Amino acid sequence: MIVDRQGRRFRNLRISLTAACNYACTYCVPDGKRLVAAQDELSAEAMVRGVAYLIEAAGIERLRITGGEPLVSPKLDLFLREVSQLGLSDISLTSNGQLLSRKLPLLLESGMRRLNISLDTLDPDAFKRIARGGDLASVLQGLEEARAAGMQIKINMVPLRGQNHEQVLPMLDYCLERGFELRFIELMRMGHLARDGNAFLQQFYGMDELLLRIGEQHEFVQADAPLDATALRYQIPGQGYFGVIANESVPFCRTCSRLRLSSTGWLHGCLSSSNRHYVGDLLDKPRHQALPALQRLLVRALGDKQDIAFAGGVTVMKIIGG
Ligand code: GTP
Ligand code: 5AD
Repeated sequence: MIVDRQGRRFRNLRISLTAACNYACTYCVPDGKRLVAAQDELSAEAMVRGVAYLIEAAGIERLRITGGEPLVSPKLDLFLREVSQLGLSDISLTSNGQLLSRKLPLLLESGMRRLNISLDTLDPDAFKRIARGGDLASVLQGLEEARAAGMQIKINMVPLRGQNHEQVLPMLDYCLERGFELRFIELMRMGHLARDGNAFLQQFYGMDELLLRIGEQHEFVQADAPLDATALRYQIPGQGYFGVIANESVPFCRTCSRLRLSSTGWLHGCLSSSNRHYVGDLLDKPRHQALPALQRLLVRALGDKQDIAFAGGVTVMKIIGG
């Protein structure tokens, strides 16, 4: 097992099945152009081997499938079927939900029981302005079906000043009524927002303001969360839970257990480091050759994690998928 000085190790793997997305959200891409799959995307088989090798070399226990948008990937079917045989304790998926209705049977069949769905507003016009693709009705339909099928659902909302911050309370009520755990994600300085500080500051709607707004309507208390969780959790007694992923206000590097594998075969040990390590070639090698090389790269990837909680507002993150 590879452990660093601060006791951190890789426990959670996030795999980006594809960089392609059927949306072009304003906080993700600047120009409304949808991201497309890279030419050199790994095959489903190589990705499955990647997960199997990382279970062995890094002690990965939980897998989250991300993108881009994972449900647009033609690899999803084969990948899910194979990866669900690897003995992981949890396999979950983060999606914008546009294709959820169509893909739900496949997800259920693989044994998946947890979904995180990105949804920034319940207003159809604001939805179109932010997502620049898809339609709200299909997402809501998919969510109802997933809920009826017993999926445990978290909703990710990025509150953006002037675009959807008035939706904080309606979104919370919508989620509480359905037993969905809403997580408010503070806007991150990723991609074009890392380069355009003004655009970032104009839209940023932080945790303090958010909690004050919620407090106008609901009484809430801090709740327990797993040590390496992304979100601070709160309980509205008798009604349910919500969370805040306070990337800027309360970074959670000290307990981070995440490892990322990009759709083109790069390992990232830290979302806020520009370091990455190519493993695509190792995934075509047999286990006895791949594992020692992989282990050396994992030591470097773990070393990329921030040493101390970084100061909010100075760290620049890159888009590497999910
Ligand atoms: P669960 O705890 O299993 O629900 O997963 P999660 O919260 O990691 O998954 P999800 O894909 O829903 O991620 C939610 C948000 O957390 C992402 O959109 C990011 O904003 C944030 N996030 C995830 N991983 C990291 C990370 O390593 N560093 C930072 N700063 N933010 C992250
Ligand atoms: N800031 C905050 N969250 C972001 N996401 C994508 N880009 C950003 C950003 N700049 C979120 C999406 C989704 C998750 C996978 O990533 O809303 O919930």
